[in-house]
Amino acid sequence: EKGGYDHFMLKEIYEQPSVIKDTYRGRLHANEGLIQMAGVEDNLEKFLNAERIIIVACGTSWHAGLVAEYIFEEFARIPVEVEYASEFRYRNPIINSKDIVIAISQSGETADTMAAIKLAKESGAFVFGVCNVVGSSISRETHAGAYTHAGPEIGVASTKAFTTQITVLTMIALRLAKAKGTLSNSLFHTYLQELVIIPEKVKEALETNDRAKEIAAVFKDAPNCLYLGRGYNFPVALEGALKLKEISYIHAEGYPAAEMKHGPIALIDEHMPVVVIAPKQGHYDKIVSNIQEIKSRSGKIIAVVTKGDTQVRELADYVIEIPETSDALSPLITTIPLQLLSYHIAVMRGCNVDQPRNLAKSVTVE
Ligand code: M6R
Repeated sequence: EKGGYDHFMLKEIYEQPSVIKDTYRGRLHANEGLIQMAGVEDNLEKFLNAERIIIVACGTSWHAGLVAEYIFEEFARIPVEVEYASEFRYRNPIINSKDIVIAISQSGETADTMAAIKLAKESGAFVFGVCNVVGSSISRETHAGAYTHAGPEIGVASTKAFTTQITVLTMIALRLAKAKGTLSNSLFHTYLQELVIIPEKVKEALETNDRAKEIAAVFKDAPNCLYLGRGYNFPVALEGALKLKEISYIHAEGYPAAEMKHGPIALIDEHMPVVVIAPKQGHYDKIVSNIQEIKSRSGKIIAVVTKGDTQVRELADYVIEIPETSDALSPLITTIPLQLLSYHIAVMRGCNVDQPRNLAKSVTVE
């Protein structure tokens, strides 16, 4: 049942190239320049008239929501807010009938997300679900939706659900961008073509497994770890830290790299591993200077870089090379080595990777 892998988590990490393909199959037609998702097409007017999108989710799904915020705003120029479902439901939020609420949930059973949906519906908002489990409570409670086709995710630590959620949300943003004319035609086509080859690049990113294992052996006994990223990779930093803490029980935090000097940099000394997501696209020069700041305080730098990178390599203690892709799609690639790193650290620490202590796969109580 684990398909020859030691754990479901590892199996699910390795399934990502094929499940991302399953998720866009029949929806993304790169040669025709089309994206067709029934739940979006049937409600296109609502999406186009939306004054705001509010994303509600928990945990890893909330991180996918943060990536989506950057993508929706950049591609479709629709203002987006991302909320923890548990906060949203209890704070008397302002919801208008011209708001679209997107609920993201792998299981489709998360109690707080469900309650947020009910509240949004009472306020007259259109609620769209992005779920993995077909027929789940959230998929039934929402007005419309789009499934991720990740297949059953057994490991408590979410991996393939995250990358397929980002895939679905990216396709929605591209569809809306096309309808609104907020992306140039050539850029639209470039993204479509790039999405089609993303599974190949994810496959290539999986080849970092041995490297991730070597680095894991060095840092497995660290009591703390920091994850830094900027732009599209800021949510990936949060996700990398969550993955490490939930399965290895190492205290980890994710931060936007530039926030370091507003406090967390005080934590840096020669014992602090700092994982920096530093692909060539995006805010490369800015992240290089953030790395210099960490280095000058003796922090141990593990950098995720684009193949062929030289500048970060000179500064970092360890680098993990990933294939090049556009800034907006990079979370689908940069996430992979972070999943592998946390997996190997947890295994080396003798942790129960698939069923970490104190955690349940779906959180059906608040
Ligand atoms: O099923 P959901 O996507 O609604 O679950 C949300 C979170 O409980 C979930 O992502 C959790 O954070 C994972 N264990 C993270 O790996």
